Amino acid sequence: MEKSKKKVLVTGGAGYIGSVTCKILLENNFDVTIIDNLSAGRISAIPKGAKFIKGDISDKNLLEKILNKNKYVCVIHFACFIRIEESMINPQKYFDNNLVAGLTLLQAMVATKSCRKIVFSSSAAVYGVPKKIPLTEDAVMEPINPYGQTKMLFEIILKEYARAGLIDYVALRYFNVAGAYLTREGAWGESHDPESHIIPLILRAVNKNKVFSIFGDDYETPDGTCVRDYIHVKDLAQAHILAMKKKFKEELVFNVGTGHGFSNKQVFQTAQKVTGTAIPYKIGPRRAGDCPFLVASAKKIQKELGFKPIRSDLYTIIKDAWEYIKNT
Ligand SMILES: NC(=O)c1ccc[n+]([C@@H]2O[C@H](COP(=O)([O-])OP(=O)(O)OC[C@H]3O[C@@H](n4cnc5c(N)ncnc54)[C@H](O)[C@@H]3O)[C@@H](O)[C@H]2O)c1
Repeated sequence: MEKSKKKVLVTGGAGYIGSVTCKILLENNFDVTIIDNLSAGRISAIPKGAKFIKGDISDKNLLEKILNKNKYVCVIHFACFIRIEESMINPQKYFDNNLVAGLTLLQAMVATKSCRKIVFSSSAAVYGVPKKIPLTEDAVMEPINPYGQTKMLFEIILKEYARAGLIDYVALRYFNVAGAYLTREGAWGESHDPESHIIPLILRAVNKNKVFSIFGDDYETPDGTCVRDYIHVKDLAQAHILAMKKKFKEELVFNVGTGHGFSNKQVFQTAQKVTGTAIPYKIGPRRAGDCPFLVASAKKIQKELGFKPIRSDLYTIIKDAWEYIKNT
């Protein structure tokens, strides 16, 4: 008799990282249900085999209905708004969706007692401007924008729910996520609208006569431009599977990065190599709030979850993103 599959509920599974993770969950034989309101996600990104419910995580009745009907081993919570610049102009929108709606999800989980495990998409944005690099998980959280504040506050809420014995959680603090998952059945990649991430922005502008601005080249970094830690979306998806398998018994917070930083100039140079195209850029003034280095210590996730990124070198990340962008 076929063993029944473990069920996972994924919020925001029609988005970039959520859809790649769902695809990999399905490949690992999980039964996947997605709830997504399609505010930023796309139906076409939902992998074949996943069940889809169009709905909002602020809808407690709907969540309770879904949770009462099924026994999920875990909820993976991606759904939120992600644009830092927008969060500075419209913080209410971010507190409403990322915090209040997220809290509704927790309330529904607690009320139905259907599933007590949650993996939360947190972010390096919780750290703000780091005082020490590489960033370890015990670094102080001092976010410098409402987006980062919502991530920090949701982590605090999770911690209190866990302390009260109501849920068990893992918070994964992603660094810069990029790349795509290319398979025979289709390709899953990044197409935010509007896009604010450097790699898809550069690649989508290839051959469009656009000159990019790099924000400052007078930072104390090897080539003067800001340095970031890039993680391939496929490796990140794998981190969720490892996180789900972990015994959720204590406070579990992990950086998801590689521990290696790449400068903005290196990103441009690598994109030129991958695309075989000159991509013009100029050096502009520094941008407020940018810090020189944002690089993870990846030791904890490597040691405690056995996380081994295999596609997270800059060339492979950009090559996969380019294949996706060229063909979509
Ligand atoms: N992309 C990155 O580099 C990065 C870095 C750090 C953290 N993260 C986090 O990872 C998660 C996923 O990011 P992404 O890049 O895939 O974003 P995305 O915008 O592509 O995906 C988010 C998905 O959530 C859905 N959604 C939003 N609010 C919802 C609601 N109230 N109810 C139901 N669905 C809702 C959207 O429709 C979308 O499909 C987010 O929590 C984000 O903060 C992303």
